[in-house]
Amino acid sequence: KKLIIINGPNLNLLGKREPEIYGSQTFEDYFENLESKYNDISLEYYQSNIEGELIDKLQEVGFSYDGIILNAAAYTHTSVGIGDAIKGIETPVVEVHISNTFSREEFRHQSYISPNAKGVILGFGLKSYDLAIESFN
Ligand code: DQA
Repeated sequence: KKLIIINGPNLNLLGKREPEIYGSQTFEDYFENLESKYNDISLEYYQSNIEGELIDKLQEVGFSYDGIILNAAAYTHTSVGIGDAIKGIETPVVEVHISNTFSREEFRHQSYISPNAKGVILGFGLKSYDLAIESFN
């Protein structure tokens, strides 16, 4: 099975960024744990702060991979383009958020990803990514 985790803007700062919300572990560190835990899965990781690069990556993997785990971060709440990209590809997308976006500001309650996602997992910290991987098993 071939899966990719795609992280959007500011998630490269995990570990340093608002640790009371997002925790103190870097994603690179966490990703190493994931790789060893799911060593029977081909797992890739991509991060970009740039909306168009995220769309390019979705298009690139979206016709051959078995699953995409997408945390579009702030673009979740703004990007018609990323929403359309998910609609246009074949690979199922599971939307992930580290925090419970519904317990936060109103503007985080809107998602352009959810209507086109296979499912949504949010609020379990980095463990949300584990749960998303499990959903493809
Ligand atoms: C986030 C939630 C978003 O609202 C926020 O903009 C992020 C991270 C999360 O994983 O909890 O950058 O997607």
